[in-house]
Amino acid sequence: MTVQEIFETMDYGTAPESAAEAMAWLDKHDRVFGHFIGGVAVSGAAQFATKNPANGQELAQIAQGSAADVDAAVAAARKAFGPWSKLSGHKRARYLYALARLLQKHSRLFAVLETLDNGKPIRESRDIDIPLVQRHFYYHAGMAQLMEAELPDAAPLGVCGQIIPWNFPLLMLAWKVAPALAMGNTVVLKPAEYTSLTALLFAQICAEAGLPEGVVNIVTGDGATGAAIVDHPGIDKIAFTGSTEVGRKIREATAGSGKALTLELGGKSPYIVFEDADLDSAVEGLVDAIWFNQGQVCCAGSRLIVQEGIADAFYAKLKTRMANLRAGDPLDKSIDIGAIVDPVQLKTITDMVDANTDGETHHAPIPLPDQGCFYPPTLITGLSTASHLMQEEIFGPVLAATTFRTPAEAVQIANQTRYGLAASVWSENINLALDMAPKLVSGIVWVNATNLFDAAAGFGGVRESGFGREGGWEGLRAYTKPKATPKPLAQITGYSADAPSPADPLDRTAKMYVGGKQARPDSGYSRPVVSPKGKLLGHVGQGSRKDLRNAVEAAAKARSWAKTTGHLRAQILYYIAENLSARVDAFAKRLSDMTGKSGVAEVDASISRLFSYAAWADKYDGAAKGVPLRGLALAINEPVGLIGALAPDDVPLLGAVSLIGPALAMGNPIVLAPSEPFPLAATDLYQVLETSDVPAGVVNIVTGSHAELAPTLASHLELDAVWSFSSTDLSGVIEAQTAGNLKRSWVNNGKARDWMSTDGEGRAFLQAATEVKTVWVPYGE
Ligand code: NAI
Ligand code: MG
Repeated sequence: MTVQEIFETMDYGTAPESAAEAMAWLDKHDRVFGHFIGGVAVSGAAQFATKNPANGQELAQIAQGSAADVDAAVAAARKAFGPWSKLSGHKRARYLYALARLLQKHSRLFAVLETLDNGKPIRESRDIDIPLVQRHFYYHAGMAQLMEAELPDAAPLGVCGQIIPWNFPLLMLAWKVAPALAMGNTVVLKPAEYTSLTALLFAQICAEAGLPEGVVNIVTGDGATGAAIVDHPGIDKIAFTGSTEVGRKIREATAGSGKALTLELGGKSPYIVFEDADLDSAVEGLVDAIWFNQGQVCCAGSRLIVQEGIADAFYAKLKTRMANLRAGDPLDKSIDIGAIVDPVQLKTITDMVDANTDGETHHAPIPLPDQGCFYPPTLITGLSTASHLMQEEIFGPVLAATTFRTPAEAVQIANQTRYGLAASVWSENINLALDMAPKLVSGIVWVNATNLFDAAAGFGGVRESGFGREGGWEGLRAYTKPKATPKPLAQITGYSADAPSPADPLDRTAKMYVGGKQARPDSGYSRPVVSPKGKLLGHVGQGSRKDLRNAVEAAAKARSWAKTTGHLRAQILYYIAENLSARVDAFAKRLSDMTGKSGVAEVDASISRLFSYAAWADKYDGAAKGVPLRGLALAINEPVGLIGALAPDDVPLLGAVSLIGPALAMGNPIVLAPSEPFPLAATDLYQVLETSDVPAGVVNIVTGSHAELAPTLASHLELDAVWSFSSTDLSGVIEAQTAGNLKRSWVNNGKARDWMSTDGEGRAFLQAATEVKTVWVPYGE
């Protein structure tokens, strides 16, 4: 046999990783696991099996958490919260460091156990999942250390309920637990029912690290256990990763409860290949994008969008590569494709692909094991953007492909989805690739790369991919709140009189302001605004659903405001302030007429506030993250989109300005419902806006009842965010109604804010007005 012949005929042998140690660990526990509550194992009343999806064999019996188990876990976490949150950052850092060290020490056991329970290739659990887990704990040990110095105004939220999926079991645990603990919270975490084992091993190392009892509690079980955590009144925050469907349910279930919420949901991420891309790299990238973890990845590059001229050549290369992928025992170190997590998921994937009649389906012609949950790498070409499989998350090793001609068309196809988690752009023309990055509606963009993750870089989506970030400084916001305790906010009502006597002989009806024009209310109704002494000050339109729709449409036409420079927005905000300064007396009189209090200080504060946001417009910087990579991970603050807002009632002018300011500074058009009892100062604003070069549609003002306007604002599918500082109790209504398109909501939960102080401005507002997009740009030849 010649060397040549050996090369050609050579077959890979198997290179199995031993499962012995993991099996011994399971045996040591008699293959029955309870919960981990208050630092001890607590057996469950009912059990279910967790299996190895590669062969169907049962690995262990896991406890099905009941409401009582959740209750006990929340009680343990609550008890632990006081002492844990009062520890110095340094002490907490030492615990997180100890956990990181123990994760390293037991890394192979974690990797093997993960692969056994989940079916993912050992190469991935060993080289990607578990190292990232360790990195996450190291990184957040540092955050605990730095908290007092760098986040002096931040306090922990309390007890965090954390519900995670099965695709990266230990990694999702790390993403949830490490930042929560670093910031002084305690947790009740529920792993996914298919993959609880590494969480239970983690519980063991928490004990080994001497972590105080009750700081980490693990309750296993299915969706019912998850729902019991979501509904538990003793929980301050829910962090969820999983399907968009369950995310929506959780949004509704927590609405009005005051619980903080972050959702990391599904995706249908575009993978865009230009004709000048390095096609071999792009093919290799696709192997990572869609066949990593059998495609069971929320940010999987599951939509291939390839330039028409090279599409056939690219598909041919891809099919050749697919024929060389190796599926097999996940514990075999030389396989690429492991098992799908469970027969249920395998059936979902099979049914979705089988039901499809569009395009051409190509299954990789490779042998699959004859037992276990395996699905071949699959490419479906010739799909239209509207095809079911181009729109719906398959969550399996199935790549849906279509073509484009121009960069503009690539952007349009890429953004034609209800999701917005990640995107990959492949082109050797860096100008083109970097020009694409800001145009893609997604939380992450990888340039000539895919599936890069790091603890220092924020991860999370826009649109129906959820809200909140994990990783980086931005991820800490999900686990902190301001230190100061807000006071309750009582409903503020206006004045009325049976037969108000006009203060002014002319009966003036204040118009709304929509698309740069004054508008009458569609309802044709208006109501009198009366001074404390019963004098009629004017009438104000009763805004309706129709008026809001018009306003949102006008705001949508002004979306290009997002593309203006910070410098230009600063100039316009200064100009608004200047024009307001020219009318101090008129505005002050208006305020005192309505409220009976001097308005001078409020007008001055409003002018100052506009200056603040003019200042911020070009200073709310992004960052270049310290990721362990030859390249850049850029955190860019992008505008959140279209904002609908209910203004505070107590400060009629300052309240409006406090919301218009950050929205405009960061590039967002806004639809504002001004103070309900005292609307006239905001309606006077249109004269100031008109003379200040604010483009039509960037600010829209709709007066009326907050209670009537809130549901329309919160449910409007075109709006990206909704804020409420109304003194009417609407937080629950608003949060529940946002579940439709999962827009970001920021509500006051019936708590007051001191608008006259710096409490009424600054970073919290800028954060709500932006989304962090992480753009990864690896470099080097
Ligand atoms: P799922 O969303 O039902 O499960 C995720 C977690 O939520 C699990 O721990 C589950 O027990 C829990 N859960 C289920 N119902 C709940 C409820 N009502 N309240 C609280 N917690 C609840 O996801 P599933 O059914 O395992 O997978 C279905 C589809 O979801 C997949 O095909 C995929 O499309 C998507 N998915 C997306 C993930 C992501 O990373 N974005 C992860 C897992 C699934
Ligand atoms: Mg399993």
